[in-house]
Amino acid sequence: MTELPLSGIKVIDFTGVQAGPACTQMLAWFGADVLKVERPGGGDVTRNQLRDIPDVDALYFTMLNSNKRSLAINTKSPEGLEVMEKLIRDADVLVENFAPGAMDRMGLSWDKLQEWNPRLIFGSVKGFNDASPWNDLKVYENVAQCAGGAASTTGFWDGPPTVSGAALGDSNTGMHLLIGILTALIAREKTGKGQKVAASMQDSVLNLCRVKLRDQQRLEAVGHLEEYPQYPNGEFGEAVPRGGNAGGGGQPGWVVKCKGWEDDPNAYIYFTVQEQNWARTAEVIGRPEWAEDPGYSTALARQDKIFDIFAEIEKWLADKTKYEAVDILRQWEVPCAPVMSMKELAVDPALREAGTVVEVDQKGRGSFLTVGSPIKFSAFTPDIKGAPLLGEHTDEVLAGLGYDADTIAAFHKNKIVV
Ligand code: COA
Repeated sequence: MTELPLSGIKVIDFTGVQAGPACTQMLAWFGADVLKVERPGGGDVTRNQLRDIPDVDALYFTMLNSNKRSLAINTKSPEGLEVMEKLIRDADVLVENFAPGAMDRMGLSWDKLQEWNPRLIFGSVKGFNDASPWNDLKVYENVAQCAGGAASTTGFWDGPPTVSGAALGDSNTGMHLLIGILTALIAREKTGKGQKVAASMQDSVLNLCRVKLRDQQRLEAVGHLEEYPQYPNGEFGEAVPRGGNAGGGGQPGWVVKCKGWEDDPNAYIYFTVQEQNWARTAEVIGRPEWAEDPGYSTALARQDKIFDIFAEIEKWLADKTKYEAVDILRQWEVPCAPVMSMKELAVDPALREAGTVVEVDQKGRGSFLTVGSPIKFSAFTPDIKGAPLLGEHTDEVLAGLGYDADTIAAFHKNKIVV
Protein backbone atom coordinates (compact mmCIF):
# COMPACT_ATOMS: atom_id res chain seq x y z
CA MET A 1 0.00 0.00 0.00
CA THR A 2 1.24 3.50 -0.82
CA GLU A 3 2.27 5.51 2.20
CA LEU A 4 -0.18 8.37 2.57
CA PRO A 5 1.19 11.93 2.60
CA LEU A 6 0.21 12.70 6.21
CA SER A 7 1.05 9.30 7.69
CA GLY A 8 2.88 9.69 11.00
CA ILE A 9 1.14 13.00 11.77
CA LYS A 10 -0.73 12.66 15.08
CA VAL A 11 -3.85 14.79 15.36
CA ILE A 12 -5.96 15.26 18.48
CA ASP A 13 -9.42 16.06 17.21
CA PHE A 14 -11.11 17.98 19.99
CA THR A 15 -13.91 19.16 17.72
CA GLY A 16 -17.64 18.87 17.34
CA VAL A 17 -20.53 19.61 14.99
CA GLN A 18 -19.21 20.43 11.50
CA ALA A 19 -16.48 23.07 11.15
CA GLY A 20 -13.77 21.30 13.15
CA PRO A 21 -14.73 17.74 12.15
CA ALA A 22 -14.69 18.61 8.43
CA CYS A 23 -11.09 19.80 8.82
CA THR A 24 -9.83 16.81 10.79
CA GLN A 25 -11.71 14.33 8.60
CA MET A 26 -9.73 15.53 5.61
CA LEU A 27 -6.48 15.25 7.56
CA ALA A 28 -7.48 11.64 8.28
CA TRP A 29 -8.28 10.92 4.62
CA PHE A 30 -4.82 12.14 3.68
CA GLY A 31 -3.19 9.78 6.17
CA ALA A 32 -2.98 11.49 9.58
CA ASP A 33 -3.78 9.47 12.69
CA VAL A 34 -6.81 11.42 13.93
CA LEU A 35 -8.01 10.73 17.45
CA LYS A 36 -11.39 12.22 18.24
CA VAL A 37 -11.69 13.14 21.93
CA GLU A 38 -15.32 13.17 23.04
CA ARG A 39 -17.46 13.63 26.11
CA PRO A 40 -18.42 10.29 27.70
CA GLY A 41 -22.10 11.29 27.94
CA GLY A 42 -23.04 11.04 24.25
CA GLY A 43 -19.92 12.34 22.53
CA ASP A 44 -20.11 14.77 19.63
CA VAL A 45 -23.67 16.13 19.64
CA THR A 46 -24.10 15.23 15.99
CA ARG A 47 -24.04 11.50 16.88
CA ASN A 48 -27.52 12.08 18.23
CA GLN A 49 -28.86 14.83 15.97
CA LEU A 50 -31.32 14.25 13.10
CA ARG A 51 -31.11 10.47 13.44
CA ASP A 52 -32.71 8.42 10.69
CA ILE A 53 -32.32 5.10 12.57
CA PRO A 54 -32.99 4.87 16.34
CA ASP A 55 -29.89 4.23 18.50
CA VAL A 56 -27.52 4.44 15.54
CA ASP A 57 -25.05 7.30 15.06
CA ALA A 58 -26.65 9.91 12.80
CA LEU A 59 -25.44 10.50 9.24
CA TYR A 60 -24.54 14.00 10.40
CA PHE A 61 -21.81 12.37 12.48
CA THR A 62 -20.74 9.56 10.17
CA MET A 63 -20.34 11.91 7.20
CA LEU A 64 -17.94 14.19 9.08
CA ASN A 65 -15.90 11.77 11.16
CA SER A 66 -14.79 8.96 8.88
CA ASN A 67 -11.30 7.44 9.15
CA LYS A 68 -10.92 8.64 12.77
CA ARG A 69 -10.53 6.85 16.12
CA SER A 70 -12.57 7.78 19.20
CA LEU A 71 -11.49 8.29 22.80
CA ALA A 72 -14.40 9.13 25.13
CA ILE A 73 -13.01 10.83 28.23
CA ASN A 74 -14.06 13.49 30.70
CA THR A 75 -11.29 16.00 30.18
CA LYS A 76 -12.54 18.09 33.08
CA SER A 77 -11.55 15.38 35.58
CA PRO A 78 -7.93 15.44 36.88
CA GLU A 79 -7.34 12.00 35.34
CA GLY A 80 -8.80 13.15 32.03
CA LEU A 81 -6.62 16.24 31.99
CA GLU A 82 -3.58 14.08 32.69
CA VAL A 83 -4.46 11.90 29.70
CA MET A 84 -4.82 15.03 27.56
CA GLU A 85 -1.40 16.23 28.69
CA LYS A 86 0.20 12.93 27.67
CA LEU A 87 -1.55 13.03 24.29
CA ILE A 88 -0.63 16.67 23.66
CA ARG A 89 3.03 16.14 24.54
CA ASP A 90 3.18 13.52 21.79
CA ALA A 91 0.93 15.16 19.16
CA ASP A 92 1.65 17.19 16.04
CA VAL A 93 -1.71 18.92 15.79
CA LEU A 94 -4.59 19.71 18.15
CA VAL A 95 -7.82 21.05 16.65
CA GLU A 96 -10.76 22.46 18.60
CA ASN A 97 -13.93 24.41 17.90
CA PHE A 98 -15.52 24.86 21.32
CA ALA A 99 -17.34 27.96 22.47
CA PRO A 100 -15.01 30.88 23.27
CA GLY A 101 -13.13 30.35 26.55
CA ALA A 102 -13.92 26.62 26.88
CA MET A 103 -10.32 25.50 26.30
CA ASP A 104 -9.02 27.93 28.94
CA ARG A 105 -11.69 26.80 31.41
CA MET A 106 -10.55 23.21 30.86
CA GLY A 107 -6.95 24.13 31.70
CA LEU A 108 -5.86 23.88 28.07
CA SER A 109 -4.85 27.46 27.29
CA TRP A 110 -2.53 28.18 24.37
CA ASP A 111 0.23 29.03 26.89
CA LYS A 112 -0.18 25.65 28.55
CA LEU A 113 -0.21 23.81 25.21
CA GLN A 114 3.02 25.53 24.14
CA GLU A 115 4.64 24.74 27.48
CA TRP A 116 3.81 21.06 27.07
CA ASN A 117 4.74 20.85 23.39
CA PRO A 118 6.42 23.74 21.56
CA ARG A 119 6.16 21.81 18.27
CA LEU A 120 2.36 21.54 18.55
CA ILE A 121 0.20 23.16 15.91
CA PHE A 122 -3.00 24.33 17.55
CA GLY A 123 -5.93 24.81 15.16
CA SER A 124 -8.92 26.71 16.47
CA VAL A 125 -12.27 27.67 14.97
CA LYS A 126 -14.44 30.38 16.47
CA GLY A 127 -17.42 32.29 15.17
CA PHE A 128 -15.54 35.61 15.15
CA ASN A 129 -11.88 36.58 15.22
CA ASP A 130 -10.21 37.98 18.35
CA ALA A 131 -10.64 41.61 17.30
CA SER A 132 -14.40 41.29 16.91
CA PRO A 133 -16.75 42.83 19.50
CA TRP A 134 -18.74 39.59 19.10
CA ASN A 135 -15.81 37.28 19.88
CA ASP A 136 -17.62 35.84 22.90
CA LEU A 137 -20.55 34.53 20.81
CA LYS A 138 -21.44 30.93 20.17
CA VAL A 139 -21.96 30.57 16.44
CA TYR A 140 -23.60 28.11 14.05
CA GLU A 141 -23.65 28.00 10.26
CA ASN A 142 -26.38 30.49 9.46
CA VAL A 143 -25.22 32.98 12.07
CA ALA A 144 -21.89 33.07 10.23
CA GLN A 145 -23.53 33.39 6.82
CA CYS A 146 -25.39 36.44 8.10
CA ALA A 147 -22.33 37.95 9.77
CA GLY A 148 -19.99 37.31 6.84
CA GLY A 149 -21.94 38.99 4.04
CA ALA A 150 -23.40 35.89 2.35
CA ALA A 151 -27.00 36.40 3.51
CA SER A 152 -27.28 40.10 2.64
CA THR A 153 -26.13 39.35 -0.92
CA THR A 154 -28.06 36.10 -1.50
CA GLY A 155 -31.67 35.79 -2.63
CA PHE A 156 -33.98 38.12 -4.51
CA TRP A 157 -34.21 41.88 -4.08
CA ASP A 158 -37.84 41.75 -2.95
CA GLY A 159 -37.20 39.03 -0.35
CA PRO A 160 -35.30 38.84 2.96
CA PRO A 161 -31.59 38.07 3.36
CA THR A 162 -31.18 34.38 2.50
CA VAL A 163 -28.71 31.72 3.56
CA SER A 164 -27.13 29.31 1.12
CA GLY A 165 -27.59 25.53 1.26
CA ALA A 166 -23.80 25.23 1.06
CA ALA A 167 -22.02 25.15 4.44
CA LEU A 168 -20.16 28.41 3.94
CA GLY A 169 -19.86 28.94 7.70
CA ASP A 170 -19.08 25.40 8.82
CA SER A 171 -17.27 23.17 6.34
CA ASN A 172 -15.81 26.17 4.55
CA THR A 173 -14.20 27.40 7.76
CA GLY A 174 -12.90 23.88 8.36
CA MET A 175 -11.25 23.97 4.93
CA HIS A 176 -9.66 27.34 5.68
CA LEU A 177 -8.34 25.92 8.94
CA LEU A 178 -7.00 22.89 7.08
CA ILE A 179 -4.98 25.12 4.75
CA GLY A 180 -3.62 26.95 7.79
CA ILE A 181 -2.66 23.74 9.58
CA LEU A 182 -0.87 22.31 6.54
CA THR A 183 0.96 25.63 6.12
CA ALA A 184 2.00 25.54 9.79
CA LEU A 185 3.25 21.97 9.35
CA ILE A 186 5.52 23.13 6.53
CA ALA A 187 6.64 26.13 8.59
CA ARG A 188 7.52 23.77 11.44
CA GLU A 189 9.87 21.85 9.18
CA LYS A 190 11.86 25.08 8.82
CA THR A 191 11.64 26.48 12.35
CA GLY A 192 11.04 23.42 14.50
CA LYS A 193 8.25 25.35 16.18
CA GLY A 194 4.50 24.97 16.21
CA GLN A 195 2.03 27.83 16.21
CA LYS A 196 -1.61 28.66 16.75
CA VAL A 197 -3.75 28.72 13.60
CA ALA A 198 -7.11 30.41 13.99
CA ALA A 199 -9.95 30.55 11.45
CA SER A 200 -13.13 32.42 12.22
CA MET A 201 -16.42 31.63 10.54
CA GLN A 202 -17.20 35.27 9.79
CA ASP A 203 -13.78 35.75 8.13
CA SER A 204 -14.10 32.53 6.13
CA VAL A 205 -17.56 33.43 4.84
CA LEU A 206 -16.32 36.90 3.90
CA ASN A 207 -13.39 35.38 2.04
CA LEU A 208 -15.90 33.60 -0.20
CA CYS A 209 -17.86 36.85 -0.57
CA ARG A 210 -14.77 38.63 -1.89
CA VAL A 211 -16.48 39.67 -5.15
CA LYS A 212 -19.26 41.30 -3.15
CA LEU A 213 -16.73 43.54 -1.42
CA ARG A 214 -15.45 44.32 -4.93
CA ASP A 215 -19.02 45.30 -5.85
CA GLN A 216 -19.43 47.49 -2.77
CA GLN A 217 -16.47 49.60 -3.87
CA ARG A 218 -17.70 49.75 -7.46
CA LEU A 219 -21.15 50.78 -6.25
CA GLU A 220 -19.69 53.60 -4.19
CA ALA A 221 -17.60 54.75 -7.14
CA VAL A 222 -20.24 54.73 -9.88
CA GLY A 223 -23.63 54.40 -8.15
CA HIS A 224 -24.73 51.24 -9.91
CA LEU A 225 -23.68 47.67 -10.73
CA GLU A 226 -24.19 46.97 -14.39
CA GLU A 227 -24.39 43.18 -14.11
CA TYR A 228 -27.15 43.19 -11.48
CA PRO A 229 -30.82 42.80 -12.50
CA GLN A 230 -31.50 46.17 -10.87
CA TYR A 231 -29.61 47.87 -13.69
CA PRO A 232 -30.58 50.00 -15.55
CA ASN A 233 -34.24 50.32 -14.52
CA GLY A 234 -34.20 49.56 -10.77
CA GLU A 235 -32.90 51.49 -7.82
CA PHE A 236 -29.59 50.92 -6.05
CA GLY A 237 -29.20 51.68 -2.36
CA GLU A 238 -26.00 52.19 -0.42
CA ALA A 239 -25.06 48.54 -0.08
CA VAL A 240 -24.59 45.68 -2.56
CA PRO A 241 -28.11 44.34 -3.18
CA ARG A 242 -29.33 40.78 -3.56
CA GLY A 243 -28.91 39.93 -7.22
CA GLY A 244 -31.08 36.84 -7.60
CA ASN A 245 -29.34 34.44 -9.96
CA ALA A 246 -27.25 37.00 -11.79
CA GLY A 247 -23.71 36.01 -12.69
CA GLY A 248 -21.10 37.45 -10.36
CA GLY A 249 -18.49 38.10 -13.03
CA GLY A 250 -18.56 40.03 -16.26
CA GLN A 251 -20.71 37.44 -18.07
CA PRO A 252 -24.48 37.73 -17.51
CA GLY A 253 -26.29 34.53 -16.61
CA TRP A 254 -29.56 33.32 -15.15
CA VAL A 255 -31.40 30.20 -14.09
CA VAL A 256 -33.84 29.48 -16.92
CA LYS A 257 -36.80 27.13 -17.21
CA CYS A 258 -36.69 23.92 -19.23
CA LYS A 259 -39.35 21.44 -20.27
CA GLY A 260 -41.27 20.17 -17.25
CA TRP A 261 -40.52 23.06 -14.88
CA GLU A 262 -44.22 23.26 -13.94
CA ASP A 263 -43.96 19.92 -12.10
CA ASP A 264 -40.26 19.47 -11.41
CA PRO A 265 -38.72 22.10 -9.11
CA ASN A 266 -35.29 21.45 -10.64
CA ALA A 267 -36.13 21.45 -14.36
CA TYR A 268 -33.83 24.41 -14.98
CA ILE A 269 -30.38 25.11 -16.35
CA TYR A 270 -27.92 27.89 -15.65
CA PHE A 271 -27.31 29.74 -18.89
CA THR A 272 -24.38 32.12 -19.34
CA VAL A 273 -24.34 34.67 -22.11
CA GLN A 274 -20.62 34.68 -22.73
CA GLU A 275 -19.41 37.77 -24.51
CA GLN A 276 -16.86 36.01 -26.71
CA ASN A 277 -19.46 33.41 -27.70
CA TRP A 278 -22.34 35.76 -28.51
CA ALA A 279 -22.67 34.98 -32.22
CA ARG A 280 -22.92 31.23 -31.58
CA THR A 281 -25.25 31.79 -28.62
CA ALA A 282 -27.61 33.85 -30.77
CA GLU A 283 -27.50 31.18 -33.45
CA VAL A 284 -28.21 28.22 -31.17
CA ILE A 285 -31.24 29.89 -29.55
CA GLY A 286 -32.68 30.58 -33.01
CA ARG A 287 -31.96 34.33 -33.23
CA PRO A 288 -28.90 34.43 -35.56
CA GLU A 289 -29.77 37.99 -36.63
CA TRP A 290 -28.87 39.20 -33.12
CA ALA A 291 -25.22 38.45 -33.81
CA GLU A 292 -24.85 41.48 -36.08
CA ASP A 293 -27.76 43.63 -34.87
CA PRO A 294 -26.18 46.70 -33.17
CA GLY A 295 -29.03 46.58 -30.62
CA TYR A 296 -27.73 43.19 -29.45
CA SER A 297 -24.22 42.65 -30.71
CA THR A 298 -22.32 44.04 -27.70
CA ALA A 299 -22.62 43.36 -23.99
CA LEU A 300 -23.40 47.04 -23.43
CA ALA A 301 -26.21 46.99 -26.00
CA ARG A 302 -27.70 43.87 -24.42
CA GLN A 303 -27.63 45.15 -20.86
CA ASP A 304 -31.10 46.73 -20.81
CA LYS A 305 -32.70 43.78 -22.60
CA ILE A 306 -30.94 40.91 -20.89
CA PHE A 307 -34.19 39.64 -19.37
CA ASP A 308 -35.90 39.72 -22.78
CA ILE A 309 -33.00 37.63 -24.03
CA PHE A 310 -33.45 35.14 -21.18
CA ALA A 311 -37.19 35.03 -22.01
CA GLU A 312 -36.29 34.20 -25.60
CA ILE A 313 -33.94 31.48 -24.36
CA GLU A 314 -36.79 30.03 -22.28
CA LYS A 315 -38.96 29.86 -25.39
CA TRP A 316 -36.20 27.86 -27.08
CA LEU A 317 -35.93 25.60 -24.00
CA ALA A 318 -39.67 24.95 -23.70
CA ASP A 319 -39.53 21.60 -25.53
CA LYS A 320 -36.13 20.45 -24.16
CA THR A 321 -35.32 18.77 -20.87
CA LYS A 322 -32.43 20.24 -18.91
CA TYR A 323 -30.17 17.39 -20.02
CA GLU A 324 -31.16 17.71 -23.69
CA ALA A 325 -30.57 21.46 -23.51
CA VAL A 326 -27.09 21.08 -22.04
CA ASP A 327 -26.22 18.42 -24.62
CA ILE A 328 -27.03 20.89 -27.39
CA LEU A 329 -25.53 23.96 -25.75
CA ARG A 330 -22.19 22.29 -24.98
CA GLN A 331 -21.65 21.92 -28.74
CA TRP A 332 -22.07 25.68 -29.07
CA GLU A 333 -19.68 26.36 -26.18
CA VAL A 334 -22.31 27.97 -24.00
CA PRO A 335 -21.21 27.80 -20.33
CA CYS A 336 -24.17 26.03 -18.76
CA ALA A 337 -25.22 23.18 -16.45
CA PRO A 338 -28.41 21.49 -15.38
CA VAL A 339 -29.70 22.40 -11.91
CA MET A 340 -28.91 19.10 -10.18
CA SER A 341 -31.04 17.82 -7.32
CA MET A 342 -29.52 15.89 -4.41
CA LYS A 343 -31.48 12.85 -5.63
CA GLU A 344 -29.74 13.08 -9.00
CA LEU A 345 -26.29 13.74 -7.51
CA ALA A 346 -26.61 10.72 -5.21
CA VAL A 347 -26.91 8.33 -8.16
CA ASP A 348 -24.74 10.17 -10.68
CA PRO A 349 -22.41 7.53 -12.21
CA ALA A 350 -19.59 9.98 -13.00
CA LEU A 351 -19.46 11.27 -9.41
CA ARG A 352 -19.32 7.65 -8.21
CA GLU A 353 -16.56 6.81 -10.67
CA ALA A 354 -14.54 9.84 -9.55
CA GLY A 355 -14.89 8.92 -5.87
CA THR A 356 -16.67 12.20 -5.18
CA VAL A 357 -19.74 10.30 -3.97
CA VAL A 358 -18.78 7.12 -2.15
CA GLU A 359 -20.57 4.29 -0.40
CA VAL A 360 -19.09 3.53 3.00
CA ASP A 361 -19.69 0.66 5.39
CA GLN A 362 -20.56 1.81 8.90
CA LYS A 363 -20.69 -0.36 12.02
CA GLY A 364 -24.25 -0.74 13.23
CA ARG A 365 -25.70 0.91 10.16
CA GLY A 366 -24.63 -0.84 7.00
CA SER A 367 -23.67 1.24 4.02
CA PHE A 368 -24.32 4.94 3.57
CA LEU A 369 -23.42 7.57 1.01
CA THR A 370 -20.98 10.32 1.68
CA VAL A 371 -19.03 12.93 -0.22
CA GLY A 372 -15.51 11.65 -0.76
CA SER A 373 -12.44 13.74 -1.42
CA PRO A 374 -13.15 16.58 -3.85
CA ILE A 375 -9.37 16.86 -4.25
CA LYS A 376 -7.86 14.28 -6.61
CA PHE A 377 -4.19 13.30 -6.33
CA SER A 378 -2.12 11.53 -8.95
CA ALA A 379 -0.08 9.56 -6.39
CA PHE A 380 -2.85 8.24 -4.12
CA THR A 381 -6.59 7.91 -3.75
CA PRO A 382 -8.07 8.61 -0.33
CA ASP A 383 -9.81 5.51 1.02
CA ILE A 384 -12.96 6.67 2.82
CA LYS A 385 -13.85 4.38 5.72
CA GLY A 386 -16.49 4.38 8.46
CA ALA A 387 -16.61 6.62 11.54
CA PRO A 388 -15.72 5.32 15.02
CA LEU A 389 -18.29 4.35 17.60
CA LEU A 390 -18.19 6.47 20.77
CA GLY A 391 -15.13 5.39 22.76
CA GLU A 392 -14.34 2.58 20.35
CA HIS A 393 -10.62 3.13 20.84
CA THR A 394 -10.57 4.32 24.45
CA ASP A 395 -8.85 1.26 25.92
CA GLU A 396 -6.31 0.92 23.14
CA VAL A 397 -5.35 4.61 23.44
CA LEU A 398 -5.00 4.46 27.22
CA ALA A 399 -2.92 1.27 27.03
CA GLY A 400 -0.74 2.97 24.43
CA LEU A 401 -0.13 5.81 26.89
CA GLY A 402 1.11 3.27 29.46
CA TYR A 403 -1.98 2.86 31.69
CA ASP A 404 -2.32 -0.66 33.06
CA ALA A 405 -5.49 -2.74 32.91
CA ASP A 406 -6.49 -2.02 36.53
CA THR A 407 -6.22 1.74 36.07
CA ILE A 408 -8.21 1.57 32.84
CA ALA A 409 -10.88 -0.51 34.62
CA ALA A 410 -11.00 2.09 37.42
CA PHE A 411 -11.42 4.88 34.83
CA HIS A 412 -14.41 3.01 33.42
CA LYS A 413 -15.88 2.34 36.87
CA ASN A 414 -15.63 6.03 37.79
CA LYS A 415 -17.12 7.06 34.44
CA ILE A 416 -14.03 9.04 33.48
CA VAL A 417 -13.96 7.16 30.21
CA VAL A 418 -16.39 5.17 28.08
N1 COA B 1 -15.01 16.27 28.73
C1 COA B 1 -15.54 17.20 29.53
N2 COA B 1 -16.07 18.36 29.10
C2 COA B 1 -16.06 18.56 27.78
C3 COA B 1 -15.52 17.64 26.87
C4 COA B 1 -14.98 16.45 27.39
N3 COA B 1 -14.45 15.51 26.62
N4 COA B 1 -15.66 18.13 25.64
C5 COA B 1 -16.26 19.33 25.76
N5 COA B 1 -16.51 19.60 27.05
C6 COA B 1 -17.16 20.78 27.62
C7 COA B 1 -16.48 22.05 27.25
O1 COA B 1 -15.34 22.24 28.01
C8 COA B 1 -17.59 23.05 27.56
O2 COA B 1 -17.60 23.30 28.94
P1 COA B 1 -17.79 24.77 29.60
O3 COA B 1 -18.92 25.40 28.86
O4 COA B 1 -18.10 24.47 31.01
O5 COA B 1 -16.53 25.48 29.40
C9 COA B 1 -18.86 22.27 27.24
O6 COA B 1 -18.45 20.92 27.09
C10 COA B 1 -19.61 22.70 26.00
O7 COA B 1 -18.75 23.04 24.96
P2 COA B 1 -19.24 23.55 23.53
O8 COA B 1 -19.46 22.40 22.63
O9 COA B 1 -18.31 24.55 23.04
O10 COA B 1 -20.62 24.31 23.87
P3 COA B 1 -22.03 24.29 23.17
O11 COA B 1 -22.50 22.94 22.80
O12 COA B 1 -22.89 25.07 24.08
O13 COA B 1 -21.80 25.16 21.87
C11 COA B 1 -21.10 25.69 19.64
C12 COA B 1 -21.62 24.60 20.61
C13 COA B 1 -20.81 25.02 18.31
C14 COA B 1 -22.16 26.78 19.45
C15 COA B 1 -19.82 26.31 20.20
O14 COA B 1 -18.92 25.26 20.48
C16 COA B 1 -19.15 27.33 19.31
O15 COA B 1 -19.60 28.46 19.16
N6 COA B 1 -18.00 26.93 18.71
C17 COA B 1 -17.18 27.82 17.91
C18 COA B 1 -17.74 28.03 16.53
C19 COA B 1 -18.10 26.75 15.86
O16 COA B 1 -17.24 25.93 15.60
N7 COA B 1 -19.38 26.59 15.59
C20 COA B 1 -19.92 25.37 15.01
C21 COA B 1 -19.65 25.28 13.63
S1 COA B 1 -20.18 23.73 13.01
